[in-house]
Amino acid sequence: MSLALKIDNKVNETELEQHVKKMYRAVALYPESEFHFEMGRVMAERLGYRPQDLDQVPQESIESFAGVGYYFDHLDLKPNQRVVDLGSGSGMDTFVAAVQVGHGGAVIGVDMTDEQLSKATRLRDEVGFCNVSYKKAYIDDTGLPTGMFDATISNGVVNLASDKLAVFAEAHRLLKKGGKLALSDIVTEKHLPERITCNATLWAACIGGAMQQDDYVKTIEAAGFDVVHVQDNPEYHFISDGATWATETYGVKSISLLAIKK
Ligand SMILES: C[S@@+](CC[C@H](N)C(=O)[O-])C[C@H]1O[C@@H](n2cnc3c(N)ncnc32)[C@H](O)[C@@H]1O
Repeated sequence: MSLALKIDNKVNETELEQHVKKMYRAVALYPESEFHFEMGRVMAERLGYRPQDLDQVPQESIESFAGVGYYFDHLDLKPNQRVVDLGSGSGMDTFVAAVQVGHGGAVIGVDMTDEQLSKATRLRDEVGFCNVSYKKAYIDDTGLPTGMFDATISNGVVNLASDKLAVFAEAHRLLKKGGKLALSDIVTEKHLPERITCNATLWAACIGGAMQQDDYVKTIEAAGFDVVHVQDNPEYHFISDGATWATETYGVKSISLLAIKK
């Protein structure tokens, strides 16, 4: 825990990045360890992933799956489409997307944590998913080309960013007109107090940086999207005592959402 996460009420980006990288390095390397959140196949199926899709992706990517919901049903990817995954982790969603867009499509996973990228790349090479690539970059500044993608996806990641508008603006820049943003993320019903937003461990565990839900939707709209679907994911729950207390007190919860670039 650190109370230095904020200085002058602004998030200390360097400290936040270190905490987030440390947590997701462990998620990649030691998925069997204890975390504030659940991971793995049982959770993925409970969230809505279809067993027949999970059977087609590397099992090690499922063990390190740290997403918070299922959005592929509303996204409805088609063969040959191009997809960017913001915060791709160990790659499970990039592989699920790759199966759906087929050999003529392309999926690019973007992440900042080396161990997540190395694991996803190794698994991609072992299984031979030639339509998947990875890029080390920040999700608010991917360096990918403008207006080239049919979909941007993200699972459990935007809550970790201190500037969520910048992330949604980047998702908007990447998409073609009419392109889809589909994501699952953690939001709150009430605004979180400082003692939670200053707690770096809770931030890295996807709680401290969670935005109030109405503000979250307005931020996506401010980036130039029409938000066409929002659903709660009651199947997702945190597991540590600290995380459970915060979720019960402030209505911290998972949602899935679909938005269209105007
Ligand atoms: C909760 S995990 C989710 C990973 C993946 N989407 C999944 O479902 O398993 C968050 C991931 O986002 C990455 N991440 C967090 N903030 C980031 C940022 N600002 N830029 C790039 N990657 C980021 C972390 O390295 C981590 O791999």
